[in-house]
Amino acid sequence: MEKEKFYPVRRYIELQKKAISDSESFWGKEAEEIPWFKRWDKVLVWKEPFAQWFVGGTLNASYACVDVHLHSWRKNKIALYWEDERGNTKSFSYTQLHREVNRFASVLKNLGVKKGDIVVLYSPMIPELVISMLATARIGAIHTVIFSGFSSQSLADRINDTGAKVLITADFGVRRGKLVALKEIADDALNSTPTVKKVVLVRRTREEVKMKEGRDCLYHELMKDAENYVEPEVVESTHPLYILYTSGTTGKPKGIVHSTGGYLVYNYATYKWVFDISDESIYWCTADVGWVTGHSSIVYAPLLHGATIIMYEGVPDYPDPGKWWEIIERYGVTIFYTSPTAVRMFIRYGEEWIKKHDLSSLKILGSVGESINPEVWKWYYKHIGGERCPIVDTWWQTETGGIMISPAPGIELVPLKPGSATLPLPGIDAEVVGDSGEPMTPGVKGYLVIRKPWPGMTNGIYKDPDRYKEVYWSRFKGMYYTGDYAIKDDEGYFWLLGRADEVLKVAGHRLGTAEIESAVIATPFVAEAAVVGIPDPIKGENIVVFAILKEGHKPTDKLKKEIIGTLRKQIGPIATPKEIHFVTKLPKTRSGKIMRRVLKAIVQDVAVGDVTTLEDEASVEEIKAGYEEFKQMLKGKPKRKKVGKKQSRSNNN
Ligand code: PRX
Repeated sequence: MEKEKFYPVRRYIELQKKAISDSESFWGKEAEEIPWFKRWDKVLVWKEPFAQWFVGGTLNASYACVDVHLHSWRKNKIALYWEDERGNTKSFSYTQLHREVNRFASVLKNLGVKKGDIVVLYSPMIPELVISMLATARIGAIHTVIFSGFSSQSLADRINDTGAKVLITADFGVRRGKLVALKEIADDALNSTPTVKKVVLVRRTREEVKMKEGRDCLYHELMKDAENYVEPEVVESTHPLYILYTSGTTGKPKGIVHSTGGYLVYNYATYKWVFDISDESIYWCTADVGWVTGHSSIVYAPLLHGATIIMYEGVPDYPDPGKWWEIIERYGVTIFYTSPTAVRMFIRYGEEWIKKHDLSSLKILGSVGESINPEVWKWYYKHIGGERCPIVDTWWQTETGGIMISPAPGIELVPLKPGSATLPLPGIDAEVVGDSGEPMTPGVKGYLVIRKPWPGMTNGIYKDPDRYKEVYWSRFKGMYYTGDYAIKDDEGYFWLLGRADEVLKVAGHRLGTAEIESAVIATPFVAEAAVVGIPDPIKGENIVVFAILKEGHKPTDKLKKEIIGTLRKQIGPIATPKEIHFVTKLPKTRSGKIMRRVLKAIVQDVAVGDVTTLEDEASVEEIKAGYEEFKQMLKGKPKRKKVGKKQSRSNNN
């Protein structure tokens, strides 16, 4: 019986290995499935660590996602359903989407945007965001979407890194029934972004906003004079499609560049394998378009396949925790893709919200952004999937451009193991290695690496090839270092164990400890700071700050509030810490490096381990004692009520 059960694994692994051993012809075959203007001459030109895929081929992403469907039955089917918290809806057929994309492409052209220019988008989850991305791609420009929860400072830093001339934004976002003043935040950022000459403003509400003469234009006004058709720019396969910023181990975010051909081929193939997607799928990914999941799973992959996408603007539990299930029922969603953080939140709300809705249209459930705990997996399988839908736990990164390790029911459904992302997709040569790059024995923890290039892989960090080499390709010779810990079990299944570097995952959002620390130090009263993650029952991980105050400052709640305010202003609400502790010493090595590992052990209440490199062991004792006191104090406090209305920002990944 067991043998039979695992037969699909052997069959899948055989297929997997075959794809790796002959990867160029394998990927060449996959590439034939998307529309090209000119076929490539060479599948791969590999000069480690830079890959060029489908060299000599030309195409256009907006043509491949939209125009191509106009010659088929999909012409008048719905491409995009949009809904907000209040239940307002909009829908666009492929023909209508084509018209909007073309008209906005014409607007961008009239504003002087050309092939290779970067256009920055800072927008809520509204259809104009998808339209703007596709319009940018149509004219061969490069989009950079900045998550609308980021602060003005984060927005300005990213705009300045790109040197963009055009920013597309909206007057307000709507979240939990409240308005988020995006234009005001953007205006604040624009005070320090000299390259931006034009701002296109989408009117999401009827509220008044300030407009700057000569710089700010209204989207709907510009659209009035637009043309209905703009010839799609013929771009090389290697031409960048977008840059997306993500956090790393230093304070400076990395502009991850993705090229057109490789990215589209990879996403077309993987969505077919992982989600068994087709032009009849109603696909709902709950991520924000501001993250890579939104780029691939809301925009490019489903549209390439001619599927129908759902775009929801709002939080999962507003106006009530039944909202998402209502959406699934209303639109007949067949594929649902969300984060473990969101599922954990719904577990707290209880099943009654789900039972009110008919979720029988669902066929496949997905999970992304962080590991899904086995008990959460089981709940998701039972209560959302009705014990009939496989869960695809998809491991990937902004840098990988698409899903790398996941069950692939579109090829062969291997037996699922709750908590494991199962096996690498065909053509993906993933391995778990030890410190010197040797493969680990099954069951032993090591670092997750990828040993062969794949079409979705990034082209590097914008304007910083050295950093790209250093971060991803210097740790292990000839291998892409993911920064994640993993274990491979004796059936070859991968179990992801979180980040091995100084990166946190808060509700699936990626935040660098260095990024948070530099914001804390920016307050006038903090001398030094160290940030670590603490496990959180809903968000997976949460932020804990240790700070040393400058001479003359006393620890007070007011200072804590100021730190929180600074973090929200410099990074955004996602960086709000759970705990702030004022200390007089931080554990450091003799060379002065903060040993976050020690702090992490203290907050997680596990053994501190080897401290022989510590400069001053007393620092550990002091922090331990202080932390113990804090925990006792918490115990003394009355327990918080059941999770209620005020959930913090979750599930945007
Ligand atoms: O640590 C891994 C975690 O998310 C990181 C990548 O974050 P980001 O670039 O923001 O992209 C997230 C969405 C694709 C990884 O290094 N991660 C992502 N998916 C999983 C995961 N950890 C465990 N299981 C997953 N399925």
